[in-house]
Amino acid sequence: MQTNWNPTSWKEFPALQQPEWPDVGESEAILKELATYPPLVFVNEIKSLQSALALATQGKAFLLQAGDCAESFLDHSAQTIQHKLKVILQMAVVLTYSTGVPVIKVGRIAGQYAKPRSSPIEKYGDLELPSFRGHIVNSEQPDFNSRIPDPSRMIQAYNQSGSSLNLIRSLTKGGFADLSKVHTWNQEFVSSSAEGQRYETVAFEIERALRFMAACGINLSKERVLQQVNFWTSHEALLLGYESALTRRDPASGKWFDLSAHTLWIGERTRDLNGAHLEFASGISNPLGCKIGPATTRNEVLGICEKLNPDRIPGRLTLITRMGADKITDLLPPLVQAVREEGHPVLWTSDPMHGNTFSSSGSGLKTRRFGVILKELKGFFEVHKDLGTWPGGVHIELTGENVTECLGGAEEVFEHELDLNYSTICDPRLNGRQSLDLAYQVAEMLI
Ligand code: PEP
Ligand code: CO
Repeated sequence: MQTNWNPTSWKEFPALQQPEWPDVGESEAILKELATYPPLVFVNEIKSLQSALALATQGKAFLLQAGDCAESFLDHSAQTIQHKLKVILQMAVVLTYSTGVPVIKVGRIAGQYAKPRSSPIEKYGDLELPSFRGHIVNSEQPDFNSRIPDPSRMIQAYNQSGSSLNLIRSLTKGGFADLSKVHTWNQEFVSSSAEGQRYETVAFEIERALRFMAACGINLSKERVLQQVNFWTSHEALLLGYESALTRRDPASGKWFDLSAHTLWIGERTRDLNGAHLEFASGISNPLGCKIGPATTRNEVLGICEKLNPDRIPGRLTLITRMGADKITDLLPPLVQAVREEGHPVLWTSDPMHGNTFSSSGSGLKTRRFGVILKELKGFFEVHKDLGTWPGGVHIELTGENVTECLGGAEEVFEHELDLNYSTICDPRLNGRQSLDLAYQVAEMLI
């Protein structure tokens, strides 16, 4: 941390992608109020996640980070959260088996409300509107009033994050995450999947492992480690006013933590070395992610490592690559080599979603192809295999619901079906079954 850093020192730097609140007095008053609210997460939890990520950096754990592109204020039922958690837990079991190491489960959840946009305006026919920036700022409804930034939404984002976290904590500690139960859900998926036979080998091996444990006298329904899981929260640290209002000094260590989530990431559009986002992130002690897109240079990657992790603490920094399926095998190796040569401990993960989005020619809806997403993951694993580095995790946009937003998968979604259940408010997500397809196919790549 630099000596002159403080939670609002980012204001001295250019801050991209910030809303223009119509009444600055009102937004300042709301931020002041937020600064008095209790934290959403606790420092000791953040430290546990940091230790788990340190193990992942050394190749002894794997990160599964997944959830919505943008959480919605209007889709906040217990059922939606439960379905999302369920699919992430199911994927984690498959990935634990295939990687042979613990899988760290991090949701894009309980705070993923702010969105960076490529353009400040959106067109609806002849109508030109300010862009939707996530429910923490405005509404996606295509009319001018709905697009006016409303700072009271920051209070709603805080409250909804708190209630999501409450449910997540009770589900993950209260029996929902029971390994035998998650395994049964996976068996049900495999037996009803068009690719069932292909996935059966992995499912059967997991079954054998569970039976082996039971035969050794381990009571699967009593063992706490098989009943409860740690589940961490994350979102993009985009809206700096909100993030700094939830940043508090830990009295024990004197360090600053952003207590809006366990870990935060910096997006592809806001990772400038001299910008406000890296300035803010450099002073908080949470583990951090940073997206790395196809235009990233060697100097930028090394600059990010130096700025965000000058003390070279393992687990502090995850680089989330999102190159595009056709580019990853060319673009990633020199960056991994540069980071290795400079001795930076980095956890490399793959976001195979954001480099592979396109608009469907028929409906104009934004979509992604399942096969192309897998291709980027395959490229990521190959690059790390060739270099002898650890492919430390995956970063996925998904939902547990039966949406039709991404094309392909074992129960193929076709282009003409996209509008059947296209409910995302931002990017297209894998549906529950496509997400499990992905986990089993990644397992095949890794075993
Ligand atoms: C995202 O993760 O939702 C996102 C906007 O990604 P990126 O910054 O990589 O474009
Ligand atoms: Co997205």
